[in-house]
Amino acid sequence: MKELISAEQLDVGIRKMAEQITSMVGDRPLTVIGVLTGSVVLLADLIRQLKMPLRIGFIQATSYRGGVERGELELDVAILPDVVGQEVLLVDDIFDTGHTLDEVQRMIQSMEPRLLHTAVLLHKLGRQEVDIRPDFIAFEIPDEFVVGYGLDYRDQYRNLPYVAVLEEADLESNDPVEPGNAQA
Ligand code: IMP
Ligand code: MG
Repeated sequence: MKELISAEQLDVGIRKMAEQITSMVGDRPLTVIGVLTGSVVLLADLIRQLKMPLRIGFIQATSYRGGVERGELELDVAILPDVVGQEVLLVDDIFDTGHTLDEVQRMIQSMEPRLLHTAVLLHKLGRQEVDIRPDFIAFEIPDEFVVGYGLDYRDQYRNLPYVAVLEEADLESNDPVEPGNAQA
């Protein structure tokens, strides 16, 4: 595993993103929605840099495959707060192909918020398959599989305080990926 973004760099990048969000939202009330599970570390740090009246909620995105491949996506809104007429900031860990954010954004949009913004920690370059782009991006990264600061490989490494590139030796590559659910 190779460190890509240090804890200090994460801190600076998230403060900067919080300033950009503040310039857009001002002191209007904001509903921050985290996409479970990868967004929890970012969400916890980001909201403490925001000063407007704020409430939080979550949406669960589950993909039908663990490991590094993207699977069929299922969204669970059971624990999502009411967003009708609210100004919403949707927060996710990474914008890779963009399908997750695209689908979650459509789902929230269908619930008629007053305004909907999107923020991600990471934007993986050269992978995008959708037309949307997040409104706020803390870091652009090369096309490598990364873990830490909320991001997982088979549900591990989310607790690393930095972002690291997963290397060949870290992959359970000889071990075929079992079909199963993986929390995004
Ligand atoms: P997308 O739908 O392809 O944009 O992928 C978004 C989801 O895939 C994220 O919320 C992550 O759960 C997962 N993902 C994509 N790239 C990585 C990575 O490099 N490390 C860990 N998870 C990733
Ligand atoms: Mg994941």
